[in-house]
Amino acid sequence: MFMISIPVATPSRSYEVLLGSGLLARAGECLGKILENRRAFVITVSPVRRRWAKVLLKSLSASGIETELLEMPDGERWKRLTTLEKLAEKLVKQGADRGVTLIALGGGVVCDVTGFLASIYMRGVDVIQVPTTVLAQVDAAIGGKTGVNLVSGKNLLGTFHQPRAVLVDPAVLETLPSREYCAGLYEALKCGIIGDPGLFRLFEDRRREILDRDPVVVEKVIADSVRLKASVVSADEREGGLRQVLNLGHTIGHALEAETRYTPLLHGEAVAWGMIAATHIALSTGKLDSVTAGRITNSVLGFGRLPRMTWQTASILKRLRSDKKTRQGVVHFILPREIGKVEITSDVPEAIVRSAVDEIRKLARD
Ligand SMILES: NC(=O)c1ccc[n+]([C@@H]2O[C@H](COP(=O)([O-])OP(=O)(O)OC[C@H]3O[C@@H](n4cnc5c(N)ncnc54)[C@H](O)[C@@H]3O)[C@@H](O)[C@H]2O)c1
Ligand SMILES: [Zn+2]
Repeated sequence: MFMISIPVATPSRSYEVLLGSGLLARAGECLGKILENRRAFVITVSPVRRRWAKVLLKSLSASGIETELLEMPDGERWKRLTTLEKLAEKLVKQGADRGVTLIALGGGVVCDVTGFLASIYMRGVDVIQVPTTVLAQVDAAIGGKTGVNLVSGKNLLGTFHQPRAVLVDPAVLETLPSREYCAGLYEALKCGIIGDPGLFRLFEDRRREILDRDPVVVEKVIADSVRLKASVVSADEREGGLRQVLNLGHTIGHALEAETRYTPLLHGEAVAWGMIAATHIALSTGKLDSVTAGRITNSVLGFGRLPRMTWQTASILKRLRSDKKTRQGVVHFILPREIGKVEITSDVPEAIVRSAVDEIRKLARD
């Protein structure tokens, strides 16, 4: 079977993203060295357990790896410290010591919770990420950011804890609900806009196959996105500068999510609106030509209908001023310059931001 290995090299750890269709059934072989003589605990959620846990456990046990399964409740609202605490109590009850390895099998929520738990359980144990959503495969599982939400805001508690390995099997995306699938693809498209014109063209030329989940094309989209994320993280583990480029579409995207209380939009969908807004800003400030702006906007809108909703532009502007990416009251934007090249800027006049937010507001209403 075909397997790609993509290196991630950060100052705290170097590891590999192993990627290939059907790899879950070969997890034992792929992870055998890392898990040799170790107890492993797979952490997952019910929809993923039902479809994919058996494949993983069977493969691990065939390679002689002793594995137990722990389940956490499904959904973003369980990305909380209480979930971590409950999982930790279960680990202790089952005799998990400092030598165990946690394996996250699930979407970004499971990856973030498991990574965070691994970073603090008995002052830190190993984690292996096995992401099962598009978003987690191209983003959440790679780079070592972990975290949970507070009532006051998303991802306000967390750590950096690089995994020992990431195992990506695009075949598991087959059971992903289609809205989740598309939402994750916006992050993959984002990778193309930031730094991979070939990946961007794949979205233009093979959109139908991507939407139909053609295995060969999907694997290519995921692999190219992982490469982009891996190279950015390798160059800048802690978001000193370069890693910020991954936030294309997120400045306004986050404000939209917060303003609409995280219900009408999935994260990727908010990023989609944010990318259209960033493109509008880049065009209005003369940083991007209109043909390229049109290509980006068409690609984003080409996935079908984004959920409709409404918001007050003034409230979005207010939220932007208090965003995490705001430093000393200055809002930072990641703006496309051409396909495959972005720029970080802090000098966008508010009138232009306002007009971009108005623009997407109109699109989101029609
Ligand atoms: N750490 C990071 O760098 C990073 C980056 C981006 C996002 N995130 C985090 O990721 C989270 C969002 O992740 P998500 O979009 O994957 O959501 P999610 O983890 O909630 O998964 C979405 C839904 O899909 C289900 N599911 C997962 N895999 C499936 C499969 N193969 N088949 C069927 N159903 C499946 C899940 O059970 C869930 O109901 C957010 O909390 C976000 O903050 C973290
Ligand atoms: Zn994102």
